[in-house]
Amino acid sequence: MDGAHPAGGRILSNTVFSQWDSVRKYGGVVPEVAARAHVEKIDQVVERALDEAGIGVDALDGVAATAGPGLIGGVIVGVSFAKALALGAGKPFMALNHLEGHALTPRLVSDVAFPYLLLLVSGGHCQTLLVEGVGQYCRLGTTIDDAIGEAFDKTAKLMELGQPGGPAIEALAAKGDPRAVPLPLPFKGRPGLDFSFSGLKTAVRRAVQGDDGHQPEDIAASFQRVAFESLVDRTRRAAEAVEAPLTAIVVAGGVAANQALSQRLMTLGEDLGLPVVVPPAPLCTDNGAMMAWAGVERLRSGLVGSPAGDADGDGDGDSAAATDDLGFAPRPRWPLDLAAPKSTGAGAATA
Ligand code: KG4
Ligand code: ZN
Repeated sequence: MDGAHPAGGRILSNTVFSQWDSVRKYGGVVPEVAARAHVEKIDQVVERALDEAGIGVDALDGVAATAGPGLIGGVIVGVSFAKALALGAGKPFMALNHLEGHALTPRLVSDVAFPYLLLLVSGGHCQTLLVEGVGQYCRLGTTIDDAIGEAFDKTAKLMELGQPGGPAIEALAAKGDPRAVPLPLPFKGRPGLDFSFSGLKTAVRRAVQGDDGHQPEDIAASFQRVAFESLVDRTRRAAEAVEAPLTAIVVAGGVAANQALSQRLMTLGEDLGLPVVVPPAPLCTDNGAMMAWAGVERLRSGLVGSPAGDADGDGDGDSAAATDDLGFAPRPRWPLDLAAPKSTGAGAATA
C-alpha cells in the first residue's frame, strides 16, 4: 500500500468475547480467570469469525495475533493458537503489538495518510504519538501515573457506577453540570507533553467522600470535563511541537468511544486546521478487526518476513518490525516506540 493513498479495508467479521462480566463479579481483573477464559473461548471465537466471514483458513493471507503488551496469560493463549493455525495452514504468522492495532485502526475506516498525530487513550495507556508509517511510531507524550481509561474506571468504582467505568461516567456526565465541582486541571499551564491523572483522582475522591453535597452527575460531568481539557491541551501542544506537516489528528483506544471527547477534539481540529478522525466506537475498544487490520497493513507494506529486532536480547525487542517468527515469545511489556524511555509510560497492566 502507498502510505499517501491508503486503500482502507472491509471487515468480514469482528468477533469479540468480552470479560467485563467476570471483572464485575470479581471486582477487577483476576489474571488467572482471564487466562482461563481465553483458553475456553478462543477456538469458538476464531471459528465464529471464519463462519461469519464465510471463508476457510485457506483463504487467509496470514494470521495475526496480539503478542503484547498485556496480561501475559491471555496473550500466550492467543499467540500459541495463532501460531498453530498459521503453521497448520502454511500461512505467515504475525506477532503484533496491541498498540499498533489501535494506532492503525483509523486507516481501516478512513482515508488518512501518514504522518498523523495519534492520541492513544485506553485502559492501560495515555500517549501522543507521531505515526509516520506502518511500524514507524514516535512517542511524544505519555502519562506519568494513571492511564486515562484507568482514571475513568477508578472514578466509576469510587462512585459505585459499575465497570467498565468509561461508558458509565459518560452516561451520568450527560445529566450533570460540568462546572459544578471545582477540580484541578492536571499540569495546568506547565510546559511539556506528558499527562497526569493522579491529582485529579484524589480531588474526585474528596468530592465524592466530602460533605459539600455534590450530586453524582455533577461530579461525573466535572471530572470528565477536566480530564478531557487536559487531553485536548496536551494534544494541541503535541501538534504544535511536531515539525512534520500533519495530515490529521487521530484518536484511538477505548476512551475514544466517548462522544464528548470526540466533540472536543473536533473543535481542536477546527482551531488547528486539521481533520480529526475518530473510528466508530466498536473499533475504538479492543477488538479483533483492529489487529487483523494491523496485519493487513504490515503485509501490504512488505514488512512481514523482515527480521525482528532484539539485538540487545532483553526481550523488549529493539524495533517495531513485524516479529513473524514462530519462535516469537509474547511480551508483557512492549512500548510501541522502542526508542522511548523504558522507565516511563502508563504501565502495561492492561492493553
Ligand atoms: O482500548 P480498550 O478497550 O482496552 C485497553 O487496551 O485498555 O480501553 C478500555 C478502556 C476502559 O478503561 C474503559 O473504561 C474505557 O476504555 N472506555 C471509555 C469509554 N468506553 C470505554 N472511557 C470513556 N468513555 C467511554 N465511552
Ligand atoms: Zn486496547
